[in-house]
Amino acid sequence: MTPSERASLRKSLRHCRRQLTPREQDAAASRLYDQVAGKRFFHCARRIAFYLPGDGEIDPGLLMAAALERGQHCYLPVIHPHKKNALVFVRFRSGDVLQTNRWGIYEPRLRSAALIPARALDLVLVPLVGFDAACNRLGMGKGFYDRTFGFRASGVRSRRRSPRLIGVAHECQRVSALKAQDWDIRMDRIVSDWQTYQPQ
Ligand SMILES: Nc1ncnc2c1ncn2[C@@H]1O[C@H](COP(=O)(O)OP(=O)(O)OP(=O)(O)O)[C@@H](O)[C@H]1O
Ligand SMILES: [Mg+2]
Repeated sequence: MTPSERASLRKSLRHCRRQLTPREQDAAASRLYDQVAGKRFFHCARRIAFYLPGDGEIDPGLLMAAALERGQHCYLPVIHPHKKNALVFVRFRSGDVLQTNRWGIYEPRLRSAALIPARALDLVLVPLVGFDAACNRLGMGKGFYDRTFGFRASGVRSRRRSPRLIGVAHECQRVSALKAQDWDIRMDRIVSDWQTYQPQ
């Protein structure tokens, strides 16, 4: 797939998820909750990174509320203050104030005491624009997640299982096949509102 084909695929998939009505979004969020909340990988994780949805992304908010309720530590991504196109993760507790970043996306205030290294997370719910049944992921195109979790892909750490990376999406974001690029991080599984996909 050429860069311009990837760009136009991103555009059409983003359009498709933005077309979902608030009622469809709520139903999808609740199906996502039903699929994930009871899973061992979810309730055994002590430190979980979520995201605040925008641009039609599926909403993992019910899962975050359940995790907060259970006393699991929850984190949200914040744009890295020094490293270009990378993320840091900040602890979020009920009632914390959020602010908007340069793209109008809500994020917690960056405070060093609440930061966690990406490697110390147990589980990350990873947003995506497109995916295929083999768990290849197409993101927004800036490589934020690829850079931040690149340590899982290379050298001696290649068999590292932590953090577990779970892509989450609407089923309408699935395409028949995507080719992973060298720098793309692998998802351990992808959960849509209707189905769970695992790499072969
Ligand atoms: N670990 C990395 N180190 C350096 N550059 C990287 C790394 N990962 C990705 N990139 C660069 O980032 C750019 C965007 O990557 P890609 O198209 O895979 O983004 P994406 O996965 O769609 O986005 P995102 O991860 O933000 O959701 C590419 O040009 C790629 O070269
Ligand atoms: Mg990528």
